[in-house]
Amino acid sequence: MSDLTTLPKLELHLHLEGAAPPDFIRMLAGRKHIDLSGIFDERGDYAYSDFVDFLRVYEAACTVLTNPQDFHDLTLAVLEQSAAEGVIYSEAFLSPDFCGGGDLVAWREYLAAIETAAATAQARMGITLRGCITCIRHFGPEQARVIARCAQETAGHFITGFGIAGDENRFHPKEFTYAFDAAREAGLGLTAHAGEWGGPQSVRDALDHLRVSRIGHGVRAVEDTALIDDLAARGVVLEVCPGSNIALGVYPELKAHPIARLRDAGVKVTVSTDDPPFFHTTMQREYQALAEVFGWDIPEFTEINRIALDAAFCDPETRATLAARLEQT
Ligand code: ADE
Ligand code: ZN
Repeated sequence: MSDLTTLPKLELHLHLEGAAPPDFIRMLAGRKHIDLSGIFDERGDYAYSDFVDFLRVYEAACTVLTNPQDFHDLTLAVLEQSAAEGVIYSEAFLSPDFCGGGDLVAWREYLAAIETAAATAQARMGITLRGCITCIRHFGPEQARVIARCAQETAGHFITGFGIAGDENRFHPKEFTYAFDAAREAGLGLTAHAGEWGGPQSVRDALDHLRVSRIGHGVRAVEDTALIDDLAARGVVLEVCPGSNIALGVYPELKAHPIARLRDAGVKVTVSTDDPPFFHTTMQREYQALAEVFGWDIPEFTEINRIALDAAFCDPETRATLAARLEQT
């Protein structure tokens, strides 16, 4: 098997707060005298029992991220890790909900801090970051409108996308059309978490009502052959996060994961980590596991990264620069 460490990688699905190492969160909790003892196990890792509990732990960890400097430091730490994994482009979900609760003035300050860290990482490590603002489904459609306004007001070179994460079993996608229409009008690329906890209908609903070009996860589309054909024909890109799906119990093991079946059926799949420390994963580990279980090697991963490059919500110049780096391999 080839050495996949240095292979240039693009990651389209990474939650910035979800990438916070537990030590980083514990350090801030200690400094701010916030008691987070209930969210770690005896080894110091994040501890949760199921998806809804994962969301609770995630949101508890976010309570220590209280100012722009915290997000600056978090962004730099996350990008250092990603660059060490061979990632040359990362599209991170940024949540104004956790950066001042959706207040636009506060959000601009948090965003400025994240962008400063991104510029430092670009200069030091050659990794490019773009932001995809995400609303949180279980916070409801009204709050999603507030977050869409943050997205409209800060869309541009750095903020290039809009999405929705959170509990897929709460609310219907049609309740979020206003937020997605606003984001589309602002020129943002669109993606929605679907087909992770909901079945094929959830993926259809996201496509029909939110008119996204990418689906976060989307793996449960495999349960419906007509939908698989439709995704393939329309060129919908799936941001697949195998390690996340296994850690959260969507599938028992990688052998049972549908990523290879979807790819074989002509669906455009990409590979990401979602919330790496929560799932004990990294980009390198994802690639390694896929290589071991499905026999994928440089040609398959190169194709996957080209799909990610085409689907990235970045400007043409950035895409061209990244394409040149991919072609060097
Ligand atoms: N937010 C962070 N990780 C998530 C996931 N896997 N599904 C939905 N929302 C999330
Ligand atoms: Zn996600």
